[in-house]
Amino acid sequence: MSNGAVHPEPHGHVYGHYAAPKWPDAHCSGKEQYDAMYKESLAAPEKFWGRIAEKFYWKKKWEAPFHSYNFDSRKAPVNVQWFIGAETNLAYNCLDRNVEAGQGDRVAFYWEGNDLGEDSTTTYSQLLAQVCQIANYLKSAGVGRGDDVTIYMPMIPELPAAMLACARIGAVHSVVFAGFSAESLSGRILDSKPRVVLTCSAVKRGAKPISLKGIVDDALVKVTAGGHEVDTVLVYDHTRAATRADVAFTPGRDVWWQDAVSEQPTTCEVEWMGAEDPLFKLYTSGSTGKPKGVEHTLGGYMVGTATTFKYVFDHHLSDVYWCTADCGWITGHSYVAYGPLLNAATQVLFEGVPTHPDAGRAWDIVDKYKVSLLYTAPTAIRSLQSFGPEWVKKYSRASLRILGSVGEPINPEAWLWYHDVVGGGRCPIVDTWWQTETGAHMITPLPGATTLVPGSATLPFFGVEPAVLSEKGEELQGECEGYLVIKRAWPSGMRTLSGDHARFEATYFNLYPGYYFTGDGCRRDKDGYYWLIGRVDDVINVSGHRIGTAEVEGALTQHDRCAEAAVVPMEHPIKGQGIYAFVTLMQGTEYPPPPALKKELVATVREVIGPIATPDVIHWAPGLPKTRSGKIMRRILRKIASKEEDSLGDTSTLADPSVIQTLLALRGK
Ligand code: WTA
Repeated sequence: MSNGAVHPEPHGHVYGHYAAPKWPDAHCSGKEQYDAMYKESLAAPEKFWGRIAEKFYWKKKWEAPFHSYNFDSRKAPVNVQWFIGAETNLAYNCLDRNVEAGQGDRVAFYWEGNDLGEDSTTTYSQLLAQVCQIANYLKSAGVGRGDDVTIYMPMIPELPAAMLACARIGAVHSVVFAGFSAESLSGRILDSKPRVVLTCSAVKRGAKPISLKGIVDDALVKVTAGGHEVDTVLVYDHTRAATRADVAFTPGRDVWWQDAVSEQPTTCEVEWMGAEDPLFKLYTSGSTGKPKGVEHTLGGYMVGTATTFKYVFDHHLSDVYWCTADCGWITGHSYVAYGPLLNAATQVLFEGVPTHPDAGRAWDIVDKYKVSLLYTAPTAIRSLQSFGPEWVKKYSRASLRILGSVGEPINPEAWLWYHDVVGGGRCPIVDTWWQTETGAHMITPLPGATTLVPGSATLPFFGVEPAVLSEKGEELQGECEGYLVIKRAWPSGMRTLSGDHARFEATYFNLYPGYYFTGDGCRRDKDGYYWLIGRVDDVINVSGHRIGTAEVEGALTQHDRCAEAAVVPMEHPIKGQGIYAFVTLMQGTEYPPPPALKKELVATVREVIGPIATPDVIHWAPGLPKTRSGKIMRRILRKIASKEEDSLGDTSTLADPSVIQTLLALRGK
């Protein structure tokens, strides 16, 4: 409950402070403890992280120097390393270590299927056996240390199990979200060049069946055309949605998972890997070009994800944790596959969508499994909010203890609904700011320690040293607004971009040497609290997913009637941001063209990228506002998209100012 104090919120509203509950057994109970631990984490990082790292199993301990870093790409290449010289294995730490500690019968996953009544339970011992079988199969298919494996699967227990199987044998997984198109999948396969792809026959999302295997087949045709061959496709038979007979099979390449994996031994030797060997690649959108393969390594990622999970969700063995993210995103990597299992957590894996079969599904799941820690995204909160509080109040939700938010800034209205209606005013909200690149939470409250203010991600996690820069790169002090950067390396940060270290340095370090550039704008208030404002680059955050404007523009121009496209973000009540596309058609087209063309353009984007990139608005643009040198003035397009044409600002540098009137006349046409 609000303790009555008020705090100015950046948009001028006033919301209360929410004091942390007094939980004596919290891993961090109270601001004094947070302050002391944070101070130590910066003053003596080697001691701080060394003490934490001792709790994991290392086949070989690290040597001094314990960690090294340089964020100044002018002096030397940025080459972050943690636990140098150490050897370990993530799957061993997630599974064998917990089983050996007597947690074998503990539930690792409560799986809840898309349709009501479909569920299963996997204990830690069972998961270990399952992971070993997949690992043995992968080895028999020729996969070894350092080899890439692409995983394109829905949220069934076999997905995190496949990730852990790769980790066990030292292979590098690249999970591609199963909502991406064949074209997107083929691009990622061509970049990482796996010889084995893991997938599933078909899946149902809500009421709709989707043939994942069909998408993989289409993608592999493009992969072959691109000059790479995949030898093996391991297909999990998810027969609720399709029968084996319906699935096209390429003999010699395609293998049924259930046939091939079940005959494998249930034990498998652990491959001991260097702390700085790669663990996975995950492709994410940037401001330019193709999605980038963000590469994470083993040791620091293990320590970082496990430690944030423990403190940010104040995890205790009595908790049941549910993260609604898919393993195809970083949240599903760090806070489904790795962080929770490293802590021997019991978690819910949900295959479906929270509004199927009705808007009470999420709360039904909370009651069914007695979920105490819930981690979801503002877009899901707003969507469930729109159905009204009755759907929530039908369920008890008495088990809930902590509520988490991730993916985009949470607007105070959604925050308050989450807090008051979902949590009944009892549960602290941890608004966690982080990125695919950071691997783990960076700015976040700790539930037993941090006073909350709706809309602020509050304070840095241990070892994270943020700063705010002006456009010129000066470090701002005290209350300020500018670019959020990080001043020193933290354990779980990305190490490079797949095959392109130069692009890694150019994207994150060259602009402001000495700092990691996050791409986010932020404000810091007088209490040192951080308020994330949104991306400052050409990335749109749609329902918490990153979509590069350049990618959508590239997809639109694949339609043969599209000559040019310019894409900007727009405000969207549920998705946070939506996609607003200005489209110039080929010479000679009359504006507006027949309405069917909009549908075709939207279908092209869905086909090239996937449904998550569906444009919300297509605005015909016989001409785009450009400078005399031909640069599109996106600032003006953003204003038109948000109907703020009264404040277009300076348009005198436009090559042809009349395009604006034409654009305004075509709005809604
Ligand atoms: C945004 C998701 C405000 C931000 C973990 C960041 C957030 C991008 C928050 C990374 C938050 C994520 N408050 N903004 N709590 N969490 N973001 O790589 O713009 O998919 O740069 O990682 O999401 O998205 P990514």
